[in-house]
Amino acid sequence: MNIYKNIVILTGAGISAESGLATFRSSNGLWNNHKVEDVATVEGFAKNPAYVHDFYNELKLELAKAKPNNAHLAITKLQKEYPANISVVTQNVDTLHEKAKNKNIFHIHGQINQAVCLNCGHILETFDDVGIFTTCNKCNTQGMMKPNIVFFGENLLYMDKVEKLLTTCDLFLSIGTSGIVFPAASFVQTAKYYGAKTYEFNLETTSNNCYFDEHIKGPAGTTLPAFVDNMIKSLSKN
Ligand code: OAD
Repeated sequence: MNIYKNIVILTGAGISAESGLATFRSSNGLWNNHKVEDVATVEGFAKNPAYVHDFYNELKLELAKAKPNNAHLAITKLQKEYPANISVVTQNVDTLHEKAKNKNIFHIHGQINQAVCLNCGHILETFDDVGIFTTCNKCNTQGMMKPNIVFFGENLLYMDKVEKLLTTCDLFLSIGTSGIVFPAASFVQTAKYYGAKTYEFNLETTSNNCYFDEHIKGPAGTTLPAFVDNMIKSLSKN
């Protein structure tokens, strides 16, 4: 195995599946029988903010209880024992990468434990309920907090930084994402175009499959720790 210097790890809901969290496109998916347009769009929030807050407050309770699994912990090990710049770009709004003590994490779709004030941009970090009566603790305006979740119709977060990472990485790992939602679905193309070796870890082959050099099929909680151990072993052979 090559020695890599700049690694980007893209994660999706599949990495959290073994922590007991539903993925988006599974039958009991993360939107939990709510209509996407009601709970995950700019228009839905404008129409009924209280309903949207309630939905995320409930999801927050569930995500707060979840624990990281062996796939998250494998990333921790890689970041500790492999001498490269390793970034985690996640589509997940849960905080399992943080709980596993991963570093350099970019939540491009936002975070369940944050709300943003639409008046002043302040980010409130809390696992407590947030609603239409919450007051921003920076500008003191009431009723302007929005879950810091990127809704359909909004720009992704940290994209300037992520684009730099993608164009300079030499290894790109995609873990547990269906590759359906853009722009994250195109990250593999960018990384490959700029010369990275690309791996996909998934239970199945995704529609993006032609952009990956290697597919590692199976649950990430098993396949990723084995892959990380091989990467670390390869250091002593070089
Ligand atoms: P999906 O639900 O679309 O896909 C989850 C992927 O994980 C599927 O390809 C599964 O095969 C795979 N998977 C499931 N369990 C796995 C396991 N144990 N090990 C490895 N792979 C496993 O979730 P995402 O791709 O994350 O965006 O969805 C992308 C975005 O769609 C989400 O971030 C969300 C949604 O729109 C927003 O909310 C903005």
